[in-house]
Amino acid sequence: MADSLNCHLESLSPLELFERVTEQGEKVRALKAGKAPKDEIDAAVRMLLSLKLSYKTTTGQDYQAGLPPKDLVLMNNGTSKEEEEDFVDPWNVQTSNAKGVDYDKLIVRFGSSKIDTDLINRIERATGQKPHRFLRRGIFFSHRDMDQILDAYENKKSFYLYTGRGPSSQAMHIGHLIQFIFAKWLQEVFDVPLIIQLTDDEKYLWKDLTTEKAYEYAKENAKDLIACGFDINKTFIFSDLDYLGTSTGFYKNIVKVQKHVTFNQVKGIFGFTDSDCIGKISFPAIQAAPSFSSSFPQIFNGKENIQCLIPCGIDQDPYFRMTRDVAPRIGLPKPALLHSVFFPALQGAQTKMSASDPNSSIFLTDTPKQIKTKINKHAFSGGRDTIEEHRKYGGNCDVDVSFMYLTFFLEDDDRLEQLKQAYTSGELLTGELKKVLIETLQPFVAAHQERRKQITDEMVKQFMTPRKLAFDF
Ligand code: TYM
Repeated sequence: MADSLNCHLESLSPLELFERVTEQGEKVRALKAGKAPKDEIDAAVRMLLSLKLSYKTTTGQDYQAGLPPKDLVLMNNGTSKEEEEDFVDPWNVQTSNAKGVDYDKLIVRFGSSKIDTDLINRIERATGQKPHRFLRRGIFFSHRDMDQILDAYENKKSFYLYTGRGPSSQAMHIGHLIQFIFAKWLQEVFDVPLIIQLTDDEKYLWKDLTTEKAYEYAKENAKDLIACGFDINKTFIFSDLDYLGTSTGFYKNIVKVQKHVTFNQVKGIFGFTDSDCIGKISFPAIQAAPSFSSSFPQIFNGKENIQCLIPCGIDQDPYFRMTRDVAPRIGLPKPALLHSVFFPALQGAQTKMSASDPNSSIFLTDTPKQIKTKINKHAFSGGRDTIEEHRKYGGNCDVDVSFMYLTFFLEDDDRLEQLKQAYTSGELLTGELKKVLIETLQPFVAAHQERRKQITDEMVKQFMTPRKLAFDF
């Protein structure tokens, strides 16, 4: 009995355990206040002690009423006292390490799993396709429950993809496309529906924008996403400001999530303070709800148990840790996740490429000349100070931003390896490496611009119309 209880408790997340201890504490108090029989009170107290012990074993912390587990607090910025250097949350990414964030440490801290060779091989076997370069090169490096998605897929059970974009401006940079390039590949190899949420409400709440402007950006950004080549029969894109008011399925899931997360918990997870507006405080439920198929009855025929897979940057993980904690408590499946690393700023991997700093980014609207100038002027180099030193000691690919960008965008593995060897040995100079990057990105961005020009307002409207997709559920 005790073993089976412990076994059950072991499968609970820290947040679930926290909730269980709190509930049990309330039960004990109620029994005592109601002068219940002694053996009943004793049994409830034993259960409380057992829950507290499991909580301590799982989190390494003593239970404290009203204070959610500290690892959820750390999730906010991924930072502990001992490891102050990496800061990762949905709004900021900062590290003092020129190689970028230590992703292995992040996996441990966030409690996700590494995408290892076994998993990549399994994806290859299941789909019969060569793994995407983002998988081959560790750009998608971490996951939650991807094995479960593959188990289901191998048993002919479908799933769907969900990802999103916060339309803060018209300007999207090439880093924003990582998730969408990968989502397109996943959609093609698994042949599943894709749902894209445009959080114009989030941007209205966080930025100095009117609702009209945020919605306009959502539609403009949708053009950039559609230009990635998504199949209109298999893809639904929606703006929160638009869809929320029309879908009872979506709104019901939002309130279910809202009912199961306390203010204390979102404070811990997202760092909200008492003076944040209540729109921000309740927003995480809106990003959580598309993880449940019942938010889209028109696509899933009202079914609520179709599993969801979310490709996203690791900065978005706090939203989905919260979602996964809530899911079993509202009787819905936990979404699975695939996390990507950050596309670094031109100035170096200490921070991610960000649309708010024009010099840190290559925008999807940049001209060939702008791309060339930005790379030549701003891309942080792992080369040596003088040509003589570079020839003698070689360059450092681990910190060289041009080389990092090539790992994202150069498809040919052999060529990438040759460049690495040549740069490391000193044979290839920084200017030459930058030239390869410029010649890779100029046609990539130009082709994107060409495809985007073909996207009409009518097409955007079609993608954004709630409808059944080309799948029967
Ligand atoms: P947003 O617009 O900040 O980012 C959209 C997606 O791009 C990722 N991303 C990056 N990936 C790699 N390198 C970068 N430099 C970089 N910058 C951004 C983000 O991780 C994200 O996956 N609140 C969200 C929108 C959203 C969402 C979702 C995202 C709603 N639902 C579901 C992912 C999954 C946001 O503002 O994303």
